[in-house]
Amino acid sequence: MGHLFIPGPVDVNDQIAAAQAQPMLPHRSAQFEGIFRRCAENAQKLFLTQFRVFISASSGTGLHEAAVRNFVNRRMLCCVNGAFAARWQQVAESNGKETDVVETEWKQPITAELVAGALKKKDYEALLLVHNETSTGLVNPVQEIAAAANKVSPNTLICIDAVSSLAGDRIEMDAWGLDMVLTSSQKAIALPPGLALGAVNDRAMAKAEMVQNRGWYFDLVRLEKHRLKDSTPATPAIGLIYALDMQLQRILSEGLEARFARHAAMAELVQTWAISRGLELYAPEGYRSKTVTTIDNKLGIDVGKLNAFLGERGMRIANGYGPLKDKTFRIGHMGELGLSDIEELLAAMDEYLNLSKS
Ligand SMILES: Cc1ncc(COP(=O)(O)O)c(C=O)c1O
Repeated sequence: MGHLFIPGPVDVNDQIAAAQAQPMLPHRSAQFEGIFRRCAENAQKLFLTQFRVFISASSGTGLHEAAVRNFVNRRMLCCVNGAFAARWQQVAESNGKETDVVETEWKQPITAELVAGALKKKDYEALLLVHNETSTGLVNPVQEIAAAANKVSPNTLICIDAVSSLAGDRIEMDAWGLDMVLTSSQKAIALPPGLALGAVNDRAMAKAEMVQNRGWYFDLVRLEKHRLKDSTPATPAIGLIYALDMQLQRILSEGLEARFARHAAMAELVQTWAISRGLELYAPEGYRSKTVTTIDNKLGIDVGKLNAFLGERGMRIANGYGPLKDKTFRIGHMGELGLSDIEELLAAMDEYLNLSKS
């Protein structure tokens, strides 16, 4: 089997994929509730939190919507330095909320100073921040930003999109003072798409109770009532929950530290390779992602042709995203991949680059 070196969806282990095909159980049965509870408890270990984790039958964007509908009556501050952060702001606006923006040029991280400055000027109910921008391969300094935000504006809830980093890079929800952290199944957790996980602390839940018009499907107060009975208000994605149950146990038996180290080593290999081939990385040093590398396409590589070449070898990388399409390309290094897979990809990339020179 070949490998997907794209930043999600990613390869799924065969046994995990097969777990989805187990016979269905009624979701309101003790047997299913036991599985659901074990998933929620094991998921807490990924988020490094003592608080609840909601398991949503949606992709991550569903929880973007949950955050803006549950935590904000009126106004929030959106940190925007990439396409997915821009989308989260759009989600907020299209739900009728007011947003102000802290932005940097996409090659630069959002800084604690910028955020603190904005929070000093106005009251915001929530701060939305993407940890790992999948469009740019840039990691924002969440820990520093959260520390500054909690100091300057302790009532502002800090909501983090860790869609393409959770389980591949360290995010310490409780120790860093984060109120909500959300992720999707199809990235570093290496499941098929279709589930989103969202960890929410008690103060964020208390705020949700005070917010009007939370909707129905993503109403965290409603979800919490059911979660306390190891259940969901609507039918859960039962096949995916079977896969999640098995995959969380696999991830924890690998060990979080080992998993982070594996991702860091893959990132290092890809990034050193790119630099050694005269390519430039989009994100600056010190802020480069452990799960996806965005490379400036200054050689003008035709990504379609490159992928056709790689495809003959069972591999695929990703074009740039949104406005960065063709200006950059991206190599995903997350989930089930290991160093030998990356070495195989880079050897094929070298072969292609050499061929296209001749
Ligand atoms: C950083 C980030 N946020 C949000 C999303 C949207 O997630 P989903 O496609 O699971 O809704 C993505 C998808 O790639 C992403 O990379």
